[in-house]
Amino acid sequence: MNSNSEVYYPNKNVLEKVYLKDYDSLYKSSLNDVEGFWSQAACELEWFKAWDRVLEWNYPYARWFVNGKCNIVHNALDRHASSWRRNKVAVYWEGEPGEKEVLTYGQLYRQVNKLSNALKKLGVHKGDFVTIYMPILPELIISMLACAKIGAVHNVIYYGYSGRVLRERLIETSSKVLITSNAAYYGGTLTPVSGIIPYAIQCPSLKYVLIKKRIDLPVFPGLPKTSKEFPKFVYWEEVVNNAPDVSECEPMDSSDPLFIIYTSGTAGKPKGIIHSHGGYMVGAYLTTKLVFDIKDDDVYWCTASLGWITGHTYVVYGPLLNGGTILIYEGDLGYPIQTRWAKLIDEYRVTIFYTIPTNIRSFMLAERELENYSLDSLRLLATVGEPIDPSAWKWFYEKVGKGRCPLLDTWWQTETGIILITNFPSMPLKPGSAGKPFPTIKAAILSPTGEILKENEKGMLAIGGPWPGMMDTVYQDPRKYIDYWDIVEGWYITGDIASVDKDGYFWIKGRSDDVIKVAGYRIGTAEIERAVLSHPAVLDAAAIGKPSSSGSDIIKVFVVLREGWVLDDLLIEEIKRRVIEDVGQIAAPSEVVALTSLPKTRSGKILRRLLRQLELGKGVIELEGQY
Ligand code: WT7
Repeated sequence: MNSNSEVYYPNKNVLEKVYLKDYDSLYKSSLNDVEGFWSQAACELEWFKAWDRVLEWNYPYARWFVNGKCNIVHNALDRHASSWRRNKVAVYWEGEPGEKEVLTYGQLYRQVNKLSNALKKLGVHKGDFVTIYMPILPELIISMLACAKIGAVHNVIYYGYSGRVLRERLIETSSKVLITSNAAYYGGTLTPVSGIIPYAIQCPSLKYVLIKKRIDLPVFPGLPKTSKEFPKFVYWEEVVNNAPDVSECEPMDSSDPLFIIYTSGTAGKPKGIIHSHGGYMVGAYLTTKLVFDIKDDDVYWCTASLGWITGHTYVVYGPLLNGGTILIYEGDLGYPIQTRWAKLIDEYRVTIFYTIPTNIRSFMLAERELENYSLDSLRLLATVGEPIDPSAWKWFYEKVGKGRCPLLDTWWQTETGIILITNFPSMPLKPGSAGKPFPTIKAAILSPTGEILKENEKGMLAIGGPWPGMMDTVYQDPRKYIDYWDIVEGWYITGDIASVDKDGYFWIKGRSDDVIKVAGYRIGTAEIERAVLSHPAVLDAAAIGKPSSSGSDIIKVFVVLREGWVLDDLLIEEIKRRVIEDVGQIAAPSEVVALTSLPKTRSGKILRRLLRQLELGKGVIELEGQY
């Protein structure tokens, strides 16, 4: 089952230069002194006041760097801007139509300061939530950093989500300010943002909508004429450009919140995961350093959207904490030519490239055109978000990395904040395996009753004990935080099914719960079903992730219709539209079919696992253990 036989060994060139040369001995020694390991990492960063204790572990609550005072922006930006890195490139940005922007650490610092001052003027204080909804623009990074700098909690909403989702999250966080842009380019289309505004202004706490002009056109053609005093619409070009460019970092307690990020769970409502300044900062810093081996002469490109945790930890914070140079790109990696991504790698001389398996499978469709690119700047490749099949792994390794670059599969979650199971450049690599636990991390495969399983047995992937970077809580729903630790005493249950082989390599099989991974995105079946059920024709609905020929899951919806309705093309379209309008384009079902009834347990729970097995052509087989 596991392709254990195939191992790719690191070459001498790689081994000579990497930070982490001997994983096994570091892992072993780290387990003997977990606190010493992380305190050493924390000492590589600057603190306004040192911590009293590295860890306070009051199961299941952890506090890292207790009573330490810091600000992640001081370490990610200010300290570089006052060092030799002042004139080093921090961010390269390219828009889909081809515009370019370059920000050195010094320039980024001044921009962040201006926005910090502007936000304060708009009434944002420490602890307030600010929601950000924009495509990948330099201003999105500036916005995140400016919020963190003044102690506000940023709430970045992925640009593909609907106005309904945006409104809910604005209201739940009582956001005072929404930062957005007037338009976005994707796949050759210019999308105006005006559609979200009628939703956004329904948030009673919202005082200002701050708009960055992505294009120089009337800002919102459809801007509503509101007679209300608030929210007021203000423009980046006016309030930010003219603000003073000096601003101090707010001293934050290690456990003060840094951001909220929503992620889908099994319940209908996504969870607001809270991460804080201290532990997250140290975890993001060290994992980026040791996994991606980032150095001062690297150009690092992670293709994730900033609205996802990968965008937070491994586009923005991790690389900048290490003083790295990053590339961000606004649009479709395959537009206007399928090899746009390869063109970007050559043009910017990208050395580290981090992406998702779905992208790799679409890169594979244009293999011939790759001959036009040298890709010789690359030295390290990495993937995340969904299992990578060995064939895609090998293609990426050979055709993009030219057999020269380690290809690292990395496993983690929104809740974990940082990479927990991973490959390292100095490690022998097994195509399709997510590698081994990061130093200090205890990982195991458990049975439904909590016993540790033997090698190659499938079970629940669990993490023992706390780590810096783990979520602090689930916003306004602390019970949901406890749920992760409540299934098996002593363990954080990830929701994934996995196994571990005789050499200690982990193999992730997929989710054990009702969460679908579509192109790396995480979507709850309940969110889709709720939208489908809102159609008057639908009596009952079940959504599943169905493996497609591309290797990634697609969303398939089963419906039971009310009497008198027929599932014709029009109704299928209407049902799909409901989901797109309610959740967003990313949740669009690819297939909708009708059944006369849905398979359910005696207590009335839908047997999605059974529907999935039928889809896979396995017929009705005995259900595996209920994880
Ligand atoms: C879920 C978390 C954290 C990065 C982006 C996703 C799946 C993540 C891998 C991997 C197989 C993976 C898991 C996990 N996943 N990385 N390397 N191999 N599956 O974050 O949206 O919170 O999703 O993504 O199922 O639980 P997320």
